[in-house]
Amino acid sequence: MTPELMEQGAQRVEARNAALAAMAGNTESGGRSAGFGRLKLDNEVDVTHGRILYLESVNVSFDGFKAINNLSLDIAPGELRCIIGPNGAGKTTMMDIITGKTRPDSGTVFFGSTIDLLRYKEPEIAQLGIGRKFQKPTVFENLSVFENLELALKMDKRVPASMRFKLDSSQSDRLAEMLHTIHLADSVSRQAGNLSHGQKQWLEIGMLLMQDPKLLLLDEPVAGMTDEETERTAELFLSLKGKHSLMVVEHDMGFINTISDIVTVLCDGSVLAQGTLAQVQSDERVIEVYLGR
Ligand SMILES: Nc1ncnc2c1ncn2[C@@H]1O[C@H](COP(=O)(O)OP(=O)(O)OP(=O)(O)O)[C@@H](O)[C@H]1O
Ligand SMILES: [Mg+2]
Repeated sequence: MTPELMEQGAQRVEARNAALAAMAGNTESGGRSAGFGRLKLDNEVDVTHGRILYLESVNVSFDGFKAINNLSLDIAPGELRCIIGPNGAGKTTMMDIITGKTRPDSGTVFFGSTIDLLRYKEPEIAQLGIGRKFQKPTVFENLSVFENLELALKMDKRVPASMRFKLDSSQSDRLAEMLHTIHLADSVSRQAGNLSHGQKQWLEIGMLLMQDPKLLLLDEPVAGMTDEETERTAELFLSLKGKHSLMVVEHDMGFINTISDIVTVLCDGSVLAQGTLAQVQSDERVIEVYLGR
């Protein structure tokens, strides 16, 4: 090797080390050495490993009772994953863990392949792009449908906070599109408190979607809905598939049948079975936990 080539090589190593040092403060690992040097960019979840959510060997006990027991589960980007299971199986607790409401005693919970969710608090996890819909609708009852969606947009971390917030044309378009998506285009100026239960649920889902979550967790979204509202919610969820990653917990098997690809059955805090709804429904162990209780 000539001295010139050695000199060039040394310069390249130096430049690379400087680049890695500059990168270190920006990575999720906070400068700790990583197996692969990939920058974590704002608003970007690294799904190059094909998983947007990854739980491994997660455990939670409440006063000695194991609510989550060695739970492992993962979800692909754009997937609409349905979670079923008997009462007390740990479905809501699992969502509590993902969203930082409950801290597990042990285990791993990753958002993409680089974001260790156990290092973040509940509001930070929401900011990272994980939206959550609790069972009870929580909309601003005194505000109109439009104002509720507008407020959700204001809460979007990418929009600068301002008292004189005015929608620009692309935001107005987005809001108008959302009104159609959630079947409330005819109710723009209605007070949210006067909507039906189902319409309130759609409005809240719309508010979450205005913040463009990468992963949306929905706990029993069709509970208390009429059959027609349930059907329209199924249409809504199918239209979201591919654009967002969704985890939907439901007891309504007709609804699950309409929207599901892969269904995960939780029982006693662990995955009991996984597959199409037909597959899990014909699984002896699943039949046993549903009929045996
Ligand atoms: N904060 C808590 N303190 C004590 N026990 C809890 C707590 N949260 C959940 N549990 C218990 O953990 C178990 C799992 O509850 P979880 O609410 O996750 O079940 P679920 O699958 O969502 O049930 P359901 O279908 O009825 O909503 C239950 O036995 C519940 O009583
Ligand atoms: Mg629950």
